Amino acid sequence: MDGNGRWAERRHRPRSLGHRAGAKAVRVCMEFCIKHGIASLTLFAFSSENWNRPAEEVGALMKLFLHMLDSEVEELHRRGVRITFIGERKDFSEVIRNKMQRAELLTRDNRQLNMNIAAGYGGRADITQATKSIVADIASGNLHPDDIDEVLLGSRMSLADQAAPDLFIRTGGDLRISNFLLWQLAYTEMWFTETLWPDLDEITLQQAMDDFASRERRFGLTSAQVKPGDAAA
Ligand code: IPE
Ligand code: MG
Repeated sequence: MDGNGRWAERRHRPRSLGHRAGAKAVRVCMEFCIKHGIASLTLFAFSSENWNRPAEEVGALMKLFLHMLDSEVEELHRRGVRITFIGERKDFSEVIRNKMQRAELLTRDNRQLNMNIAAGYGGRADITQATKSIVADIASGNLHPDDIDEVLLGSRMSLADQAAPDLFIRTGGDLRISNFLLWQLAYTEMWFTETLWPDLDEITLQQAMDDFASRERRFGLTSAQVKPGDAAA
């Protein structure tokens, strides 16, 4: 979800206004996913590194976060959305942490769409916490080092209960992952757009979907191996 700051700066307005305008795009994405039967949507709302932005901007983002938790959760619940937060929670205020937990509990049985909100999230931290949990199990004698494989490590990572992401979309024109789901994105298709996050609309999302549909996903195999109905495969 990149480009809020630039969206506001182009209008000679404070960056916080861009963040507020970005809230609308969250709804656009949610509607799009439900309409197209997409099972999971993970939004990178706030990274572990974003805590180091100027205090004023972090404060405005926390205010907005709180506001969204108050104003959006009921509607998401009504639409059958299951909300999950991933990332380090201890850095958030107690009131935000409580509202996160409440939203998760309220929506945990919903099946229409998994909406994962990455807040205080970092991909490296995710891998680190998974490693720590495995090491703790080894230290306590519940696990043997020979048991460690990709499946086990993956099972300790965020979003282990959901399929690996098919498509990664980054708005705002920058061509990088910025410490998003490093482990989970191993074979995800990447799509980048200059469109700033607050300007994201259905047309742009449809472009991403169409591009995705035209790609051949080989997962390290040859084209002949993955072609549907190919006898040679
Ligand atoms: C993304 O927009 C939103 C958050 C990181 C919370 P930015 O704030 O990074 O917007 P730009 O990149 O400065 O335009
Ligand atoms: Mg940015």
